[in-house]
Amino acid sequence: MMTAELSQFIDIHTHILPGIDDGPKSLEESAAMAQCYVDVGISRIIATPHFIPGTAWAAGRERIRESLQVLQTYLAEKSIALDIFSGMEIAFHQKLISRLERNILQPLAQSRYYLLEPSFQDPQGDLLCCIRQLMDRGEKVILAHPERIPSFQEELGPLTELVRQGLEVQLNMGSLLDRFNELSKQTSMQLIANNSVHYLASDSHSAESRKPPTLQDWEKLTSLLGDKLLTKLCIVNPWKLLDVENTHSCE
Ligand SMILES: [Fe+2]
Repeated sequence: MMTAELSQFIDIHTHILPGIDDGPKSLEESAAMAQCYVDVGISRIIATPHFIPGTAWAAGRERIRESLQVLQTYLAEKSIALDIFSGMEIAFHQKLISRLERNILQPLAQSRYYLLEPSFQDPQGDLLCCIRQLMDRGEKVILAHPERIPSFQEELGPLTELVRQGLEVQLNMGSLLDRFNELSKQTSMQLIANNSVHYLASDSHSAESRKPPTLQDWEKLTSLLGDKLLTKLCIVNPWKLLDVENTHSCE
């Protein structure tokens, strides 16, 4: 593919299911988000509601599946053609591995990849140890938006080492589009320069703010990263997650 086409983008990190986390509160709000995707030609996304045990945002696999079915039916009635796959943004917590063993945690679509969210406040030692344990068990891990986390902004060394061992990294588009602080952008560019980034996603939460990518966003990302890298991070690698045969790490 010579030109990165926004219509081929698969957004692997979105909060679009209604009433399940800090995303849309109703089916109507979810549909408004879905319409934003369809308006720019995007037809596939992965819904990744927060899973934060001990809070109201902790829907398990079954509830996510049910919510997704209700939303897809609603979108079909409204003729909004967006395919949404199941996922989960799993906040790091001490019982993560035991919950994974009990099949409570949802990987991304049909893949074996789990999207893990680091704590914004805590030191990352326990998270990195958990990631290493998961990888030793043969699980695939994608770390969500480390560029937004103060401890990673300060020190990327241990993270980079885990990437060398197979950890994959997802950046938020907003970090590159100056929607967060300057350190988020600097850390993003550093991770990209280190060849430590595998996915770029929106982490969208609504049709109003933190919304799905627009054509203007895509143009800015194209001029910042170039066609080749944008295609890899937004199209080639995400497509591999939808491949049921996929058992390999991304390049
Ligand atoms: Fe998120």
